[in-house]
Amino acid sequence: MDTIRLEDVKNYVGQEVRIGAWLRNKRGSGKLQFLQLRDGTAFMQAVVVKAEVGDEIFAKAKELKQETSMYLVGTIKEDTRSDFGYEMDVNDLVVVGASEGYPITPKEHGTDFLMDHRHLYLRHIQPFAVLRIRNTMIAATYEFFNKEGFIKIDAPFLTGSAPEGTTELFSTEYFETEAYLSQTGQLYAEAGAMAFGKVFTFGPTFRAEKSKTRRHLTEFWMIEPEMAWMDQAASLEVQERYIAYLINAVLERNSYELDLLGRDKELLASYTKLPYPRVSYDEAIKLLQENNFDVEWGVDFGSPEETFLANHFASPVFITNFPKEIKAFYMKRHPTRDDVVISADLLAPEGYGEIIGGSERDTDYEYLAERVKAEGLDMDEYAWYLDLRKYGSVPHSGFGLGLERAVTWITGEEHIREAIPFPRTMTRLRP
Ligand code: 4AD
Ligand code: MG
Repeated sequence: MDTIRLEDVKNYVGQEVRIGAWLRNKRGSGKLQFLQLRDGTAFMQAVVVKAEVGDEIFAKAKELKQETSMYLVGTIKEDTRSDFGYEMDVNDLVVVGASEGYPITPKEHGTDFLMDHRHLYLRHIQPFAVLRIRNTMIAATYEFFNKEGFIKIDAPFLTGSAPEGTTELFSTEYFETEAYLSQTGQLYAEAGAMAFGKVFTFGPTFRAEKSKTRRHLTEFWMIEPEMAWMDQAASLEVQERYIAYLINAVLERNSYELDLLGRDKELLASYTKLPYPRVSYDEAIKLLQENNFDVEWGVDFGSPEETFLANHFASPVFITNFPKEIKAFYMKRHPTRDDVVISADLLAPEGYGEIIGGSERDTDYEYLAERVKAEGLDMDEYAWYLDLRKYGSVPHSGFGLGLERAVTWITGEEHIREAIPFPRTMTRLRP
């Protein structure tokens, strides 16, 4: 008999099938046992009736411990009382792997305990739903950019440069010299754009952020598209279409997971309405000041400011043209102003903050060489990057989406550590 997956039982109503499953929990009496099961694709209940299976199998069912793995043979029934909609009437049960003293009992546990047991906690409903949605977003990313004619190129993770600022670098011994763990694939993506027109990188990035916030990881995954012959206005259109594509993919493919998480699907669907508002940094500062925020022109936004701005528009919102002083060296100068650059951050609503950072890139060799020096960066490390401006420099733009920030927002989670299988933060390197 083939082993079928729980996500497929809907095709077997009224039939006898075999499933492989782990026990999540059980309850019952001397005559009936209700087994809460999972198999990695879904969660379902099975019912064992003593009068039907006989004493021996019933005794086995009664002794099952949490996370015991087993084969079950039984008949699939519709069950309108459960969220899942189906149930199994068990005819036979064979234990595969015993389990004793599973630590994550059905009672409440603190976050630290759950994160210490992340290798086991992955089996539970919340990580199950969040990480399946993450998987959809990764698949949808490849679909979207392939459809739009992008080539994926892989940037190295070991580098000699620090494009997003020297304060947040992890360094490591590299034979006789020192290497850094990459903060961004962007500079390599720019080289790729000059070779292939439209590219994206997707890989882990590392930042030694000393921030213990619900939005920061020290290792996170970033999708970084880079487009030659494209200005910032056109890049913003790619960005909003990409976000809408991600949300539609999750709504279409992860209805079950969104329900498990209690995420409001209508609210999510509202974020597919384009275009997103474009608000200049100048306007944003004014709006904040009018609403009693103590902010001066020139400051970077913190979490309260970002939360206010996105909630004010009840939509993802682009904040454009930030002060040059608080942004990276490669961003394009404004044509008529000295103090701002052609950049945009996309802020997510509901307090999730910045999910995308991007800009048009400056194309001028002399200017960028100056900026590299002014930032105290090592000219030798950037010579190859500056070459891109020496040999047929063209207008180009790009952006970076923090995958876990986007997953946290779309799944409605409280904390970014839920959005990655094994989170790395200032205080967590294990498991
Ligand atoms: O705004 P950032 O620093 O931009 C860049 O790295 C550019 N090189 C991107 C580009 O233009 N190609 O980071 C981009 C995004 C942020 O908007 C945020 O979503 C995410 O990366 N991010 C983090 N996510 C989790 N933990 C952290 N410590 C993060 N730092 C940035
Ligand atoms: Mg940023």
